[in-house]
Amino acid sequence: MFAFSPSDGGDKRESYRDLVVAALALTDGESDGVANMANLAALIWTMLPDLNWAGFYRVLPGTAGLVLGPFIGKPACIRIAHGAGVCGTAAATGTTQCVADVHAFPGHIACDADSRSELVVPVLRDGTVVAVIDLDSPAPARFDADDVAGIEALAQAIAARIQF
Ligand code: SME
Repeated sequence: MFAFSPSDGGDKRESYRDLVVAALALTDGESDGVANMANLAALIWTMLPDLNWAGFYRVLPGTAGLVLGPFIGKPACIRIAHGAGVCGTAAATGTTQCVADVHAFPGHIACDADSRSELVVPVLRDGTVVAVIDLDSPAPARFDADDVAGIEALAQAIAARIQF
């Protein structure tokens, strides 16, 4: 049994350090990237409050755009064109997109009408975007600089663990 729980209140940066340690422990020794992404989505969901969607979109070799990966939340759009929406923008630019108000983001793709804010962090391997981590929240402006730094650290830590 795996037992992970959010740190009690307090220091957000410390919670993210715990999240990275847990993510590395959870994926240690497992070469199946889909299994690891599934468990990582569940881990994020368990450890971060106020989310309504958490998961991965992948850049598959030989396929244009992004394809849905393992996630927790409502069923979501399967394919996102390169540069489209928040996820496609993160993938195309290789930069984190922290969106306080999804309705103000041009081209935002609404998979869950409850989403109000969103954080999308690219996962890079050898300088190439191979996936993005996508977090949605029903709360406006849910994500701040600590969330950005924490999920970027997570993306870097797990990049080699989600081979597909
Ligand atoms: N909102 C995203 C689409 C994916 S869902 O949020 C799960 C976007 O604009 O790219």
